[in-house]
Amino acid sequence: MADATMTRPSPQASARREAGAVVLRTHDLTKRYGERLAVNNLNLEVYRGDIFGFLGPNGAGKTTTIRMILGLITPTSGSVEVLGQDVATHRAEVLPRVGALVETPALYLYLSGRDNLRVVGDALGGVSDERIQAVLQMVGLAARQKDRVKTYSLGMKQRLGVAIALLNDPDLLVLDEPANGLDPAGIVEMRDLMRRLSAEGKTIFISSHVLGEVRQICTRVAILNLGKLVTESTVEDLTRGQGEFAVQVERPREALALMQAQPWGKSARIDEANGTLITQAPNGSGRDLNLFLVNLGFAPASLIPQTQDLESIFLTLTNNTAGEVR
Ligand SMILES: Nc1ncnc2c1ncn2[C@@H]1O[C@H](COP(=O)(O)OP(=O)(O)O)[C@@H](O)[C@H]1O
Ligand SMILES: [Mg+2]
Repeated sequence: MADATMTRPSPQASARREAGAVVLRTHDLTKRYGERLAVNNLNLEVYRGDIFGFLGPNGAGKTTTIRMILGLITPTSGSVEVLGQDVATHRAEVLPRVGALVETPALYLYLSGRDNLRVVGDALGGVSDERIQAVLQMVGLAARQKDRVKTYSLGMKQRLGVAIALLNDPDLLVLDEPANGLDPAGIVEMRDLMRRLSAEGKTIFISSHVLGEVRQICTRVAILNLGKLVTESTVEDLTRGQGEFAVQVERPREALALMQAQPWGKSARIDEANGTLITQAPNGSGRDLNLFLVNLGFAPASLIPQTQDLESIFLTLTNNTAGEVR
């Protein structure tokens, strides 16, 4: 039931924070293009083991942020820390520990998937055949490794892009819209891949302008709009409802009248579709609501905290550009 225990961070989340395992941190990160603030004072913290969803409509500033994280462009002000080191001053130490896929991967279409990995591996100073086989296995392309990339589906190309990002066995994987343009099957494959990589201990920072692509896999999300952070939280916290409960009791109309007489029960109502009572709770506590009902002889058959759909939260939080959000 939704009482105080649900508002505390999970024990795992607390342990992560105490261990100080911050993999990526931005400090007042800002990028200005002329008059336009593409990224505006962004403060983010990504912890080891997170699958961190970096969400926002087109033009929100996601790619610009990612380019600054990777040291590809210089911030106007503020800084980025990866694994405790400033990216601007420790680029050479930091970048080998980060794997990235920004927008679509640059691939040689007439080479096989495996040979694409060899070419990139050589550019990195040599990567073993074992490693190449391991990453092909990881992204589910081992069976197609000898085929030319031009015969690959978009989803396979994207996964080959992830394989390239994985070649040097990075701690942090930064993926800019890896599911963009994929069909539903491709999105599912990409999600499965993210889950596998997370299980292997990678920290994943993944951007998307389509919430539905990533919400099932993200441990935490930040929502960016017009360069500014709108909210940062766990998916669970974000989707928690406005403290309402759906309650099933016998004789709901009698129970409703009793609730509406309470200071906390003014908004109580019956969902006519299924006869369920929808109500706030005394002290915001499901336990207290249960006690209230039991004491009056309405032992609930069920009492369920209501959650708000993440899609509608996303739209509300970014509503000034809602037209661009799918
Ligand atoms: N090189 C650039 N010059 C000028 N404006 C840019 C440049 N890159 C991005 N922008 C602008 O910055 C804003 C954020 O862009 P971007 O980071 O690509 O957003 P997203 O990846 O979230 O779609 C947009 O308004 C975009 O037009
Ligand atoms: Mg982008």
